[in-house]
Amino acid sequence: MENIGYYNGTFAPIEQLKIPALDRGVYFGDGVYEALRVERHRFFALKEHLTRFRDSLTFMHIAFPMTDEALTAILQEAADRVDSDSQQLYFQVTRGTAIRTHAFPEEVQANLMIFSRGVPLADLQEYRRVVVLPDTRWGHCNIKSLNLIPSVLAAQTAKERGCSEAVFHKDGIVSECSSSNLLLLKDGILRTAPSDERILPGVTRAHFLMIAREIGVTVDESTFTLEEMQDADELMITSTSAHGLPVGFVDDKPVCGRDAALLRRLQKAYRDYFWSCIDANE
Ligand code: PDD
Repeated sequence: MENIGYYNGTFAPIEQLKIPALDRGVYFGDGVYEALRVERHRFFALKEHLTRFRDSLTFMHIAFPMTDEALTAILQEAADRVDSDSQQLYFQVTRGTAIRTHAFPEEVQANLMIFSRGVPLADLQEYRRVVVLPDTRWGHCNIKSLNLIPSVLAAQTAKERGCSEAVFHKDGIVSECSSSNLLLLKDGILRTAPSDERILPGVTRAHFLMIAREIGVTVDESTFTLEEMQDADELMITSTSAHGLPVGFVDDKPVCGRDAALLRRLQKAYRDYFWSCIDANE
């Protein structure tokens, strides 16, 4: 099949999937999600995604009794139902289905929804454009909550301005992008914002930093300013599908392109590692 959807035990093509209007995800965004890469029907870094998923559930006080093993079996079945060898699989768990009251309903059962479809890995060659916007998100950006309106609006602004991403800052301190982390290279050092409540702890970010250290690149996880970002030798975006996407224009100003050798080395080391993990899963 071209794509698959799943809701609480029922599989259907995404376009035909139906969910109850009273799922609290519909009217409160009361849930958490994960987005995973699936190559040749094998997951990348599933364990790390599940750990972050459980952390998000705990923060939200959502009870999801299904074990990781049972969940993995359903995710695998979803991926196996899609023909594509290169998929992005999304899953979300909401608090449950109930009449709308803000406080948690009594005795509610969590809802599991999954989508998977063919999505190619990002092409890492071409330098992209980003737009800089104030970070108007909530104070817990480390939680993968369904509430993404500031990110949705920022992504739309980026699109309207011909950009691939929006870079968020608060009072001049750069956090991350609307749906990815931001890394920079300066004088051979790889810098990215610290993993605190201002950013999502990206699974790709963590692996990228690990690989960078392994190939001898110094990593600095401390805050940086908009000026430091604009003065970077290279800028890169990481997410599940973007493995070090180079940025060449910030707010239409040409930046970076000054350490392409190290940028390409990092991209290659990461992609090699990524494929070695997929191969090891077979
Ligand atoms: N986004 N920061 C934000 C705000 C994100 O939404 C994401 C992921 C990342 C990168 O995380 P990871 O490397 O674990 O994908 C960073 C996913 C892809 C999404 O929302 O679909």
